[in-house]
Formats: sequence, structure tokens, C-alpha cells
Amino acid sequence: MYGNASTFDGFVVMLERMPQTDEHPATPPAHLEFRLEDATHAPSSGNEWWRRSVIYQIYPRSFRDTTGSGIGDLPGITAELHHIASLGVDAIWLSPFFASPQKDAGYDVSDYRAVDPLFGTLADFDELIAEANRLEIKILVDIVPNHCSSEHAMFREALASPRGSAAREHFIFRDGRGKDGQLPPNNWQSHFGGSAWTRVPDPDGAPGQYYLHLFDHSQPDFNWDNPAVGDEFESILRFWLDRGAGGFRVDVAHALIKASGLPDWHGRADGADSPGYPFADAPMFGQPAVHDVYRRWRSICDQYPGERVLCAEANVHPIEAMADWVRPDEMHQSFNFPFLHTGWDAAALKAIITRSLKAFDAVGAPSTWVLSNHDVPRHATRLGAVSPALRPGDGLGPEDVQPDPVLGLARARAATLFMLGLPGGAYIYQGEELGLGDHTLLPHEYRQDPSYARTNGERLGRDGCRVPLPWNDSTPSLGFSDAAGWLPQPEGWGTVTRQAQEADPDSTLHFYRLALDLRRTHNLGLGNLNWVEGTDGAQLLGFGNSGVLVLLNLGTAPVPLPAGDVLLASSATAVARSTEAASGLALNPDAAVWLRP
Ligand code: GLC
Repeated sequence: MYGNASTFDGFVVMLERMPQTDEHPATPPAHLEFRLEDATHAPSSGNEWWRRSVIYQIYPRSFRDTTGSGIGDLPGITAELHHIASLGVDAIWLSPFFASPQKDAGYDVSDYRAVDPLFGTLADFDELIAEANRLEIKILVDIVPNHCSSEHAMFREALASPRGSAAREHFIFRDGRGKDGQLPPNNWQSHFGGSAWTRVPDPDGAPGQYYLHLFDHSQPDFNWDNPAVGDEFESILRFWLDRGAGGFRVDVAHALIKASGLPDWHGRADGADSPGYPFADAPMFGQPAVHDVYRRWRSICDQYPGERVLCAEANVHPIEAMADWVRPDEMHQSFNFPFLHTGWDAAALKAIITRSLKAFDAVGAPSTWVLSNHDVPRHATRLGAVSPALRPGDGLGPEDVQPDPVLGLARARAATLFMLGLPGGAYIYQGEELGLGDHTLLPHEYRQDPSYARTNGERLGRDGCRVPLPWNDSTPSLGFSDAAGWLPQPEGWGTVTRQAQEADPDSTLHFYRLALDLRRTHNLGLGNLNWVEGTDGAQLLGFGNSGVLVLLNLGTAPVPLPAGDVLLASSATAVARSTEAASGLALNPDAAVWLRP
């Protein structure tokens, strides 16, 4: 549309269209009117903290080591927590620190009520809670209810007990198929590769039954049809709530209940939709009875003061199904993985954001937004990757075409600014506020993710996004530890330490702090979303939220900006002078801006 000015949240917005290459260069720029569409999302009716929260994920083993073990620990988190508080986040999601043989970096728990000596003691946890309370930050504990470690006392007891015993009923033991039970009970595959069943000898030494493990063989799945399992977990929840936990991130929340009879499944091991096998048919995911578990958990959380929350890792498809996890009497939040997996594509981003808001609005829950975590390549790497081989959960290795770090960082900051403008809850993964990418040149001998060994190296695994953080230049591991870290850091991280970025006003660290501050000041988390008309098919994607115009340039040419105050741009070079725009400013490619028209 051309011509008249239009209103934007009460302000007049005029954008000029840049001359196209097929237009005569002498043609004066036409006025392009940008209207806001009807609201896709109205301001939130509730104002509880979790409806607008920013939650920062700490991956303890890579945060900060105080003992010289090369592995981060709880005292390290307590010591450095003020740095995270100064970002202006509401809560920490703390990845597992429980007793564990660390076969899956702590997601294999051998005692849910104990801190692994690698990370400290229960007293250290209590000190962390005290410091978090002082800094007014909540600590969410990562609970792993689908499976435990094969070292857990209940599983050891099951192995030592005969088939059919009460001890075995805590897990999913079945006889094998075929002659002498040589074949696994069904065809399910482990997420990490290979069969999801492992055979064990009977207590008398004869070849025995198989147990189910949707992940590594060291992670036996619990039998959630057995009420004793539910009772045990409710007691574990209370244990951490009593100690001051602000709630829980719930690992693999969609997998607890399996369809009766454990029927064969020919779809993908991760349950994602695949041709002929829609997610809804997966017998190990999203079974209706799983929601009863979370209704009970919600009622437990509600018995505690301070709005303790549950956040689901419910990797289900489509997004409308994911919204079932956050109905009013279930969890508070669910990670929006479809948003994370959407690439640098204006139309696809607009579609998934619209769909997410609609789906979560329908159940009265906030949508969440997330770009990085400990299971996927960091977004500074994903968005700079030129290799089509980049796969979620795997990342890039030394043999792959390497990502463009400059492009990756520019796009990562732009994507973050765009995400933080969205209404709902946002997640930040430790180190993204330093602009870190993956260690894409990590030598293979360091790889520890079980998926690397289980697939004989066919899958790289997730170690590349789990590298210890760079704090300062005081030690060879950049202030992470007095020793070498459990994974080496990439070349070049010496220039992006937290200390170096504190001293640089243009740093990614200052940029995150400013964005989070403005998000809070303008109350964007509880705000509305009105798309800017006509910005979804081409290079520009934009929306209005609470009087702030959020624009992201995914194209290859500068886009003229409307008049207004630039609240924040994604980099020092994101906004350039332009004689073509009425405002005198244009938004460069791979950049984002928040404007107050
Ligand atoms: C979740 C965790 C992942 C872990 C898996 C098995 O997806 O985020 O790191 O490997 O569950 O517990």
C-alpha cells in the first residue's frame, strides 16, 4: 500500500520503499505505508511472573569450577551468580547436579536427593538458594522423571530380583521375542542410536529379560503405570521445594507413559512427525495419562508460596499439541522447540509465532521463546552455518564446512533482539549473552555425548555447545578453572571473556543487558503482538508490542526505517544513515531494531 500514513499503537508510521533494482534510479522513493494487522495476541490478562519471565539456563559442569576438577560446581554458580543477576533475569534453570555416573552429563540420576560430589554438597545447594534469594532470582531444578541411572538403587534392586518381582515393576522389563528371546521385545530405537532395549542376565546368570531405555542403556525408563513410581517422584519434588527450589524444568516430560502392549513403531526415534507416522501415533510419547501426572505435580507446587512453576520439555508436534502441557491445571510453560528450529526465514518465523500465540492463548498460557540450549548447536553457529549438513542436536565437526562467525554473531544478536520483543517467556542459554558459538573444531577424542559412541561417530553429539565458559584471562581455561576444563575452549575465546565484554560498551554482554532492561521497562513480556502488514514474505519481519516496533531484516538490502526513537539496535552497525528514508535511517541486513515511533 502506498500513500497515507497509518497509525501504529497511536503513532503515525511512514516507511519509504527503497528504489528496486528494476526501477529508474532517479525515481524518488515511493512512500510505503505499513499498517498493523489486527492483534494476533492481546496483552496478557494475568501478570504472574512466569507469564513474562526471562529464564537463564545454567549448565553446571561448564559454568565455573572452584575445585580444580575441570568440571563446574555449585559453589562456582553461587560465586558468580551476581553476574547473571546483573543481566536482569528472573530465574535460573539449573541442569542436573544430582548424584550420577555422568553417562549422559547428569541426565542419568542415581540419587535424586543428593548432590553429586563433582558439583558439591546439599549445603552448597542451600547456599546457592540463599544467594539467589538475596539477588531475587528463582532457582528451577531440572527433574528427570522418565528414566534414572542404571546405578540407581531401585534399578540395582530390580536387576538382583527375579522376573515379575515388585522391584522389577519399577521399570519396564519384558521377555524378548524370537527363539530363546534373542530379539528385543519391540522395534523401538533409542534417541541416541541403536535399540531401546538391553538384555540382562537373570539373577542366576541365565540370559534374561530386556529393559527399556529410550535414551542410553545406562538410563532405564521408569514404569509410570506403577503408582509407587509416582509416589517416589512426588516425594522428590517436595524434597527440593522444601529446600527453596522455585520449581522444575521437567526432562522429556512427554514420554513417561507408554501405550499398553508397547506396539512396534516405525516412525522416528525422537517421535517427530515423519511420513506415514504422525507424532500423535507414537506409542511412547504424549499418551493422555501423562497429563494426570502433571495435574498432581501442579497441585503440589500450588501448595507452596511464591508461585513455584513447572516447565515442560515436551518435544511434541504440532505446537497445538504442546499447548496441552500448559492447560490451567498443568504446567506453567513448555519450551517452544518449533520456534527454535525455524531458520532464517521471515514467512516461516511469522507462521510459527502466530501459531504458537494462538495455541497457547487458547489455553490461557504464555508462549515461550528459546534459541539455544545444551542439546542443540548454539544459534550463533546455526545462523552462521553454510553447511547444509547442520542437524539439530549434532552441530558441526572439524570435517565440516565451518560457519561464518561474523554472520553468525550478527544474526544471533538480531534473532535475540527479535525474540526478546515477543510477548511471553524467554529462555537464555549460558554463554549466549557473550555471543558464543559452538566449538565446531572440537577434536573427536574429547567427545563425551553418548550418541557419538552409540552411533560409532556417525552422529557428533552435543559436546560442541557445552564448552566451559570464558570468564577472564587469569588461567589457561579463561578463568573457568585453575585446571584444564572438561572440554577445551575454541581458539579466540580469549577476546570474548565476560571480563573483556564488561569493558566494551558495544559488547554482546551489554547488548543483552540493555535488551532485557528495555523488555522489562516496556513490559513486553505481558504485551500484545500486531504484525506489520506485508512484512512476512520478503526481507523484513516486524511487529508492534506495547508501543514498541520490533523489526528484523532477513534480506540482503537495507530497509528504510520510519521516524522514531531507536531504543536498541542489534549492533553498532545495524542502523545506518540513509538519504532514502524519511527518518534518515535504514536497517541493515542481518540486523534488528526496537523503535519507539
Ligand atoms: C533431555 C535433555 C538431554 C538428555 C535427555 C535424556 O532431552 O535435555 O540433555 O540427554 O533428556 O535425559
